[in-house]
Parts: sequence; C-alpha cells; structure tokens
Amino acid sequence: MKKINIFANWKMYLDYDESNILANALLEKAKDLPENIQITLFPSALALYPIVQTFSGDNLAVGAQNAYWIEKGGYTGEISMQMYKDAGCKFILIGHSERRHIFNETNHEVRQKIEAALSLGLTPVICVGETQEERKSNKTEEVVEVQLRAAFDGLTVAEGTEIFVAYEPVWAIGTGEACAAGEAERMHAIIDRIVKALIPNAKLSILYGGSVRADIVADYLVGPATDGVLVGNASAKLESISDIIDRVIAVATAK
Ligand code: PGA
Repeated sequence: MKKINIFANWKMYLDYDESNILANALLEKAKDLPENIQITLFPSALALYPIVQTFSGDNLAVGAQNAYWIEKGGYTGEISMQMYKDAGCKFILIGHSERRHIFNETNHEVRQKIEAALSLGLTPVICVGETQEERKSNKTEEVVEVQLRAAFDGLTVAEGTEIFVAYEPVWAIGTGEACAAGEAERMHAIIDRIVKALIPNAKLSILYGGSVRADIVADYLVGPATDGVLVGNASAKLESISDIIDRVIAVATAK
C-alpha cells in the first residue's frame, strides 16, 4: 500500500517554545502511527534543531521551510542547505507560494535550490500553483507547467531519487477556500504526466496543499495521483493536526 504523507508547514506561526511543545505532543501521538503514514514537520529555523533530535524515525522526519543553495559565505541572513543537512533535516520546501509572491523568489532560484538539495541528498518538496487571476483566465495548467519545466527540464536525477511536488493553488493557501478534491486530483494527474516525462528516473510523490482541514482531508486521499497533504494553518495547533492525523489513520487502516 502506498505511503500517505502529512507535511506540516508551521511557517512563522509558532515561537521556539510553542514549536517544541507541539513537536513533543505529536511525537507522543505518533507512537501508534501505522507504517504507511509519514509525518514531516517544517518548523521555523530556530526551533528546528531540538525537534530534529527527537522527531525522527522510519515515518517521522523534519524539513526546512527554505534554504540557500550556496554552502557557505557572505550571505547575510541566509541558512544553507548544507547547514540544514548537518542539523539532521531530510526535506526542503522549495518555491512555496509565500516565498514566490512575498519574497519574489523566481523559477530560476527554485531550480538552483532543487539542484543543491539533490546534490546533498536532501529531498526537495517543490510547490507549484496558480493565482486566482490565472485560474479565472484559464491559465492554471499553463502556469503549473511553466513552473514544473523551470524546475525539472534538463535535470538529471539518479534512478529512484525521491522528489515531492506539492500542488498548492495560491488562492487556496490560508484562505479557508480549499481546492475541490476532484480538481486537485485532476491537477495531480497532469503534474504526474509532466514531471515523469521530464525526469523519468525520479520517484515522484504529489501532495495537495491549501486550506486542508480534518473534515476534508480524507477527500484528498482517494485519488491515485495523490500521495498526501501539505498543511499550513491547521498543522500549527495540536487539536486540528491531531484530528487530521486521526482522519488519515482511518483512511490508511481502512484500505
Ligand atoms: P494552509 O497553508 O493550510 O494554511 O492553507 C498551506 C501551505 O501554505 O502550505
């Protein structure tokens, strides 16, 4: 049975203490986690290190929300992929829409980050998705394809290299207006086809992200092209992330 991924993007929601308290509570909760569920936490850079020390196992991992591709040097304020790797991170979120839209991250930078992550053996989680305006003008597929081509065209990856793509429509992030599960699955099938044509050697997993909540999470786990969810707001509170985990466990154990 395929693995179901729950990725928890804590963004800048939690301070150091809050992050550690939530990570410890989730560690406790994950004691009875079925083998086919993977939970990955993306805490803030400052809270990440102590969490990596405890929150790790066959199906528990920690990732960084962003990282710079150059290993070391005069880059004030940046943290490199290598540093995150040394700290014990396994995953790197790349090209999240908040980075693209608030911090003007470009497709070119996304590509640099993917290449750096892969060269270090870190698993990149590349976020793609269209804005409301692009969806309204029927550009959804085109925008996502451009993002995917910039990310993967001409990239050589070793056989079986893990790559995650998160389909996160910008209009669905943090708005409470999730993309309908059927539409997300349709986009995932398109993403799957495009990425597999560009990097056929990769072991690709596709996630949905954007206003995922406990009452709808199971809807996203039905389709064959979906391997899990990337949760923001609802992942930063114990009650809502616990509810999401419980719903996912119900799906994983019912199959
Ligand atoms: P949200 O965020 O669940 O708060 O919409 C998702 C994300 O940004 O990854």
